[in-house]
Amino acid sequence: MKKVVVITGASSGIGREIAKLFLEKDYILILSGRNGEGFEYVKNKTDVEVILGDITKKEIREKIKDLVVNKYKSVDIIINNAGITFVQPFEDNTEEELIKLFEISLKTPMLLTHDLYGLMKNNKSGTIVFINSAAGKQGYPNHTMYSAMKFGLNGFSQSLRLEARKHGIRVISIHPGGVKTPMYTNAKIKPDINQYMEPKKVAEIVVYLCETAGLSPDEISISRTQFQL
Ligand SMILES: NC(=O)c1ccc[n+]([C@@H]2O[C@H](COP(=O)([O-])OP(=O)(O)OC[C@H]3O[C@@H](n4cnc5c(N)ncnc54)[C@H](OP(=O)(O)O)[C@@H]3O)[C@@H](O)[C@H]2O)c1
Repeated sequence: MKKVVVITGASSGIGREIAKLFLEKDYILILSGRNGEGFEYVKNKTDVEVILGDITKKEIREKIKDLVVNKYKSVDIIINNAGITFVQPFEDNTEEELIKLFEISLKTPMLLTHDLYGLMKNNKSGTIVFINSAAGKQGYPNHTMYSAMKFGLNGFSQSLRLEARKHGIRVISIHPGGVKTPMYTNAKIKPDINQYMEPKKVAEIVVYLCETAGLSPDEISISRTQFQL
């Protein structure tokens, strides 16, 4: 039977590269994002479902849950990847930005995982991946609120890992440094992303880890040689 993979934020950057790699293999993909143009790469592909819309909203997560529970009756891999950032001095952050960051970086991965976890538990197997960040392990200037969310996400994934492993479920947390993606397009302080890692390289590591059986690579930091964020 084909394995089912759910990927959030698959319309751009790291998530899109992960989805492209899974597309080359024998999986059923359930992909999420808001921007339909970002899904051109799945045109004419089979075994792909695209759920368009804001995944911080319950109705979008319900659509994913419905596909997984009622149509495919299985989920093998969840890649919690969708995210945003605001790169700016602490005093420039607003309450509205804090809420947006919380909703996409913490609320959504926790609730989506919660929606699908029961099925993995019943199947006594599964891999849950969180695309965290180097900023989820140490603080960085101009990343105060983003870093706080990613630390929170790491607390969640560490705790979940301890509960989940007795059910045969792996929880993998990926902590990349800077990656060359559109995430910084609207940042007030724009990093020189030309020095950053290629998203495809990060995706290759993620897909490789998803396909390792019998091992639990718990937390993986990825940085460029001779370069730190
Ligand atoms: N780039 C880096 O330097 C870096 C470093 C470490 C960790 N990360 C993490 O990697 C993950 C992916 O980021 P990226 O760099 O690949 O950025 P990206 O290219 O901007 O991609 C972000 C993805 O998240 C989706 N997304 C954001 N908000 C959404 C919402 N409300 N509803 C549905 N989808 C939403 C976007 O979809 P739409 O565009 O279709 O809305 C897009 O597909 C994030 O969790 C980020 O924190 C990035």
